[in-house]
Amino acid sequence: MTDSSLGCFPVRYFCTAGHGMEQFLVEEVKSKVGAQDVIRLQGKVIFSSCANINSVTSLKSAERLFLLLNHEGPLKLPAHVNQAKASSLLQSKLTGDKEELARAAMLCISLQGAIKDRAINCQVQTEGVKKRDQDEQSHGEASQCKRKRLEHENPDGAPRDQQTERLPSVDPVTFRICCKCSGSVARYFSTQDVSKVLGASLTTLLGWRVDLKNPHLEVNVNLTDDYCLQGIPLTKFPLATRSYVQTTGLRSTVAWAMGSMAQIQPGSLVVDPMCGVGTILIEAAKEHNDTYFLGIDIDDEQLVKARGNIVHAHLEGRMQVLKASSLALPLHSASVDAVVCDLPFGRKFGTKMDAAKNLPLILSEMTRVLRVGGVLVLLLSPQLSCQIKRLITQDDAKSDSVQENDSQTEKQDCQSDGATSTEQPSSPGRKKGPPSTQETEHLYGLRRTSPLSSLRHENTIRVSLGAIDGLMHKFVKLDP
Ligand SMILES: C[S@@+](CC[C@H](N)C(=O)[O-])C[C@H]1O[C@@H](n2cnc3c(N)ncnc32)[C@H](O)[C@@H]1O
Repeated sequence: MTDSSLGCFPVRYFCTAGHGMEQFLVEEVKSKVGAQDVIRLQGKVIFSSCANINSVTSLKSAERLFLLLNHEGPLKLPAHVNQAKASSLLQSKLTGDKEELARAAMLCISLQGAIKDRAINCQVQTEGVKKRDQDEQSHGEASQCKRKRLEHENPDGAPRDQQTERLPSVDPVTFRICCKCSGSVARYFSTQDVSKVLGASLTTLLGWRVDLKNPHLEVNVNLTDDYCLQGIPLTKFPLATRSYVQTTGLRSTVAWAMGSMAQIQPGSLVVDPMCGVGTILIEAAKEHNDTYFLGIDIDDEQLVKARGNIVHAHLEGRMQVLKASSLALPLHSASVDAVVCDLPFGRKFGTKMDAAKNLPLILSEMTRVLRVGGVLVLLLSPQLSCQIKRLITQDDAKSDSVQENDSQTEKQDCQSDGATSTEQPSSPGRKKGPPSTQETEHLYGLRRTSPLSSLRHENTIRVSLGAIDGLMHKFVKLDP
């Protein structure tokens, strides 16, 4: 677990990420916690970092954070191996060096303690800030918590690597095991089998005790055809749970990713013309201090929740919402630096508005208010993405900019004519699947007035939204 090339004693972590979010997480761990030895797996990113634990728990694109115990190649069982031999091979695969395991357990408990204390400190500090200075809450909370965090993490000015050397003593360590098996391993072992084998080893080797209710450690084991991964979660709640959001909307990690695609600069004005409860703007506002955010929505209920969220996140000074229609935005042309928008689709919002029918007008309005060089980031269903894709491919010059992978994914969606899409049709009367080319040309008023004619397509990333997938598209406005 040490690497002298980093000039400290780095901790080896892994984070889980939603489908499509891995690339954001790789970038984020490199830029925010100086990650090295980064390994990207499907749904996971492994990395080493010397950064303090509270910077690591502040990662925005991750779902859960684990201390890495072991990452190895898959368990390979010879053909016709009997159960006893298979169990013994599994045991040696899962149980590494005794000293290393004991040390990892203590490090884990120490890190968990630091994370808990930080949460308490931030809460106390936020109360103090509220009383002292109502006007500067948004900046106050962040900076006060940051200061307190630094004090806590480094109370006597010792370098962080020395601090992790002072590990707590817990006797006996209690644990439970959480296991996932897939592929050929799953044919030999049930998750209970794996838990039994590992549990017996930890008890005999290290004297740890099983506690299914409230253990010090939850040892997670993931056995697949590609790897064997073991780790211990460092936080009780997923990192994707945001303490600063009162009413949740779009998945927080995806909302954050949309903000990061928008290339927000200091002093910018960022608009979400269908903001809902304001999730995308709140995520972006927490990341960019000197920036202004305007949310627009047609629904009063959503706006009430959005206002509640703004107050809860202490963003009153920099974020506002107003009631208007995205079909006629009450904004001057070329007045906005970035537009971000999660269009209505899926079970929750798809029935409220026929986004397919209104897409051309919505896009025209978004493009009109964007300044030249401004960025547009859209989250669309696979079906709505097909409409945009068709528009782009109508213009030969611009179709070159579509990334090969993305066009392949979209091609599948468009070819399947919506049949494989898990989303709901946007209105009961509408026929299933994306419109034909003729329909699209009709919708967009043919090429002459295509709202995409002044936009350059940069990239498309498919992400999981839970039950359904969405496609994040990024465009840059080229012409006035
Ligand atoms: C998918 S939701 C946005 C969710 C949002 N990203 C969040 O996290 O809460 C789409 C939003 O578009 C709004 N909407 C529908 N038609 C609209 C219109 N014509 N103008 C403005 N907003 C509209 C809905 O009220 C809904 O809040």
